[in-house]
Amino acid sequence: MDNKVANLINEQINKELYSAYLYLDFANYYAAVGLDGFENWYRIQAQEERDHAMLFYQYLQNNSEPVVFASVDKPDWTRGDNMTPLIKGLEHEKYVTSLINTIYAAAYEARDFRTMQVLDWFVKEQGEEEKNASDLITKMELFGSDAKGLYMLNSELKARVYAAPSLVL
Ligand SMILES: [Fe+2]
Ligand SMILES: [Fe+2]
Repeated sequence: MDNKVANLINEQINKELYSAYLYLDFANYYAAVGLDGFENWYRIQAQEERDHAMLFYQYLQNNSEPVVFASVDKPDWTRGDNMTPLIKGLEHEKYVTSLINTIYAAAYEARDFRTMQVLDWFVKEQGEEEKNASDLITKMELFGSDAKGLYMLNSELKARVYAAPSLVL
């Protein structure tokens, strides 16, 4: 595999694990304020990010590329109100989309069609991630300022169940 592409994918493992760590801290925040549905939503979100890390890990393994783990950064956000993680979450997903696009551009440059095919799934996934994050902000804006509305929204988010990624390597 092209060196630059392999290095970027290796770095992406760390970025996905960081995403999991960030979202686990969002879950941690919501647990502390008693919003167990929001906690559930972000716990599942963290699990999905670990899945993404494992997919990149497996992809490098499948291609006999070395995997080198770096330290995972401390979650970079400051607690505010119940909207803060949602805003930070959307911002973070947009950043991850830019990372995926950078890897895609490198794979395209290297004519690495195999990697491009794997990344196609991630491009689509990022579209969904941004939409989910953005929808959550909209719902919070609409219903979150009233106690009953917040209760209903929390109940809705509590019903989310984990689903394994549809990409199989
Ligand atoms: Fe991810
Ligand atoms: Fe994500």
